[in-house]
Amino acid sequence: MNPTVIITGASQGIGKATALKFAHHGYNVVLAARESDRLEAAASEVRALGREVLAISTDVKDPKQVDELIKKAIAHFDKIDILINNAGIFAFGPVEEFSLNDWQQVINTNLWGYIHTINALLPYFLKQGNGKIVKVIHHLSVYALIF
Ligand SMILES: NC(=O)c1ccc[n+]([C@@H]2O[C@H](COP(=O)([O-])OP(=O)(O)OC[C@H]3O[C@@H](n4cnc5c(N)ncnc54)[C@H](OP(=O)(O)O)[C@@H]3O)[C@@H](O)[C@H]2O)c1
Repeated sequence: MNPTVIITGASQGIGKATALKFAHHGYNVVLAARESDRLEAAASEVRALGREVLAISTDVKDPKQVDELIKKAIAHFDKIDILINNAGIFAFGPVEEFSLNDWQQVINTNLWGYIHTINALLPYFLKQGNGKIVKVIHHLSVYALIF
């Protein structure tokens, strides 16, 4: 049986490149991101490598959506071997122009998003006795210009 990886933020950039790399190395892949058309396009590219792919539109800020992602992935593949926590956004600009909503979006995605996936998947990893969690580092991704 091929191993399976879940990758968040997998519709473009580092997430998509990581998905293609895992597929190339024989993994089934679960792709998650919010916008479904771009996600499906990424899924097609991974499928073209001959791997089984599940693309699940998910907002990692929402713990209920993340729970569904994990449940669907396990129902489909039975066993998950690796979680790549990659979904992230960044805010850029003079810090005095950041709204509270800007800060909340970044923290809710880059911090809580990671906690939601770990919280949902860790019980399965502990039950099956193995599993790996990879964090793509982004320093909370607030690039502020301070004068
Ligand atoms: N590229 C860099 O130089 C760099 C440097 C340092 C750290 N990083 C970190 O590396 C990671 C990937 O970077 P990247 O440059 O590949 O980013 P990217 O091209 O902007 O892609 C971000 C991915 O995350 C998804 N995403 C964003 N918000 C999400 C949410 N709430 N729920 C689920 N998916 C979400 C996006 O899809 P949707 O918008 O459709 O959801 C997209 O698939 C990020 O965490 C970033 O902070 C990147």
